[in-house]
Amino acid sequence: PADNGILAGLGLPDDLRERGGEPFAPPRGLLDLGHDGPVHRVVRQDGNPVWLVTGHAEARAVLSDPRMSSDRRKALNTQDLPEEVRARFDDPEARAGNFLGMDAPEHTRYRKLLTGQFTVRRMRSLEPRVTEIVTKQLDEIIAQGPPVDLVPTFALPVPSLVISELLGVDYADRAEFQQRTARMLRTDTPVKTLLDEGDKLTEFMLDLVRRKRAEPTDDLLSGLVHGSPEDPLTDRELANIANLLLIAGHETTANMLGLGTFALLENPDQLAALRDHPESVGTAVEELLRFLSIIHFGIPRTATADLELGGQRIAAGDNVMVSVQAANFDGAHYDNPEKLDLSRARGPHLSFGHGIHQCLGQQLARVEMTIGFTELLRRLPGLRLATAPSEVPVRTDMLIYGVHGLQVSWDA
Ligand code: HEM
Repeated sequence: PADNGILAGLGLPDDLRERGGEPFAPPRGLLDLGHDGPVHRVVRQDGNPVWLVTGHAEARAVLSDPRMSSDRRKALNTQDLPEEVRARFDDPEARAGNFLGMDAPEHTRYRKLLTGQFTVRRMRSLEPRVTEIVTKQLDEIIAQGPPVDLVPTFALPVPSLVISELLGVDYADRAEFQQRTARMLRTDTPVKTLLDEGDKLTEFMLDLVRRKRAEPTDDLLSGLVHGSPEDPLTDRELANIANLLLIAGHETTANMLGLGTFALLENPDQLAALRDHPESVGTAVEELLRFLSIIHFGIPRTATADLELGGQRIAAGDNVMVSVQAANFDGAHYDNPEKLDLSRARGPHLSFGHGIHQCLGQQLARVEMTIGFTELLRRLPGLRLATAPSEVPVRTDMLIYGVHGLQVSWDA
C-alpha cells in the first residue's frame, strides 16, 4: 500500500473500498453494506477483524460512549509490530500531550487546556491572516499563469501557513516548517523514515516551545506555555501538542481544499449557483464535508467492555471502526444522500467526528475553506480542469482521501 505501512492496515477490505473510478461518492460496496444493517464484522487490510459501523445513529452512539477507547495502540494492534516500532508507541515521552489517542480523564485535562486557547476571539483574529495567506498564494498562481497544479501551490501551503500562524512560527522558519510538514505527508515514506522525520519535527517544535517560554507572543503556543501556571505543561507535552495540531489540521484541510475544488468543477450547475450566491459558501462547505467524507478509512475505537450495538454483541477488546462515509450517506438520515446538493440544509454530519474528541480545529478549518473557496472562485474566473477528470490522481490508499494533484486552467 502507498500509505505508511502501519496505518494502511486499518483500511477496509477491497470490496468496501473500491470506488470503481468514481472519484467522489463512497464505494458502492460500502453503501450496499450500509443498506443491510448498521453494524458489520469485516476483516481489515492487516488481516485483523473489526466491527464496521455504517449507521448514522450507531456511529454517534459509539463516538459518545465512554466504554469506547481512543487508544490507537489497541486499534493498531501494536503488539504485532516490530519491537522498534512498538517501543515508539509505548514511549511515555512520545505519548505525552497526544490527546487524540487518550481517554478520559487523561484526555479531559488536555482538551480543557486547548479549548481555552481555541477561543472565538483567536479564531476571529486569524480570519484576516487567512485571507492574506490565501491572497498571497493566489497572487503567485496568477503570476505563474495557467495551467497550475493547485495542490502544491494552494491546497497544501494554505493550511500549513495557517498552522504556523496559529503556533507562532517565525517567518524566517516557515520555509523549514513547510518542508518538514510536506515530507511527513509523502506517500512512499517507509515507517522508519517517518519516525525519524517525526523526531526532527519534534526537535523543531521543542525549539519553538523554548522560545515561547523565553519570549511569549500573541499565539496559541505562547498561550499554552504561559496560560495555566496552576497546571503547567512540560516542553515535551507542548511540542507533542504542536505536532498533533499540525498533523490533524494540515492534511485534512488541504484535501478538503483540493478534492472540494475538484468536486465543484465536476458539478458545474452547483458551481454556477455558488458563484451567483457567494454568501451561501458556509452551507456549501458543510455539504462538501459530508459528501466527500475524507476520513474515508473511518474513526477507530476499541471496546473496553462487553456491549450491544445495532443488534450485535461486541466484546471487550474488540476493535470498532466508525465509517464516516457510510454514516454521512445513511438514507435514514439524509434525503437523497448520494447527490451533492450545496443548498442542503446544514445537518449534523460526522466529518468532524462526535463526542469528546470532536474536532478541536473545526472552526478554523471552516474559516480556511470558506475563505479559500470564495477567493479561489473570485480570483480565477472560468476555473476549469486542465486534464481529463479520469487523470486526476486520487488518494485511494491514503488515510485521508483527496487528490495528489489538480491541474487547472482559467481565463487569464
Ligand atoms: C479531531 C476531522 C481540521 C485539530 C478530529 C476528528 C475528526 C477530525 C474526524 C475526530 C477524531 C476522533 O474522534 O478520533 C477534521 C477534518 C478537518 C480537520 C475533516 C478539515 C476539514 C482540523 C484543524 C485542526 C484540527 C484545522 C487544528 C488546527 C484536531 C484535533 C483533534 C481533531 C487537535 C483531536 C481532538 C481530541 O482528541 O479531543 N478532526 N479535522 N483539525 N482535530 Fe480535526
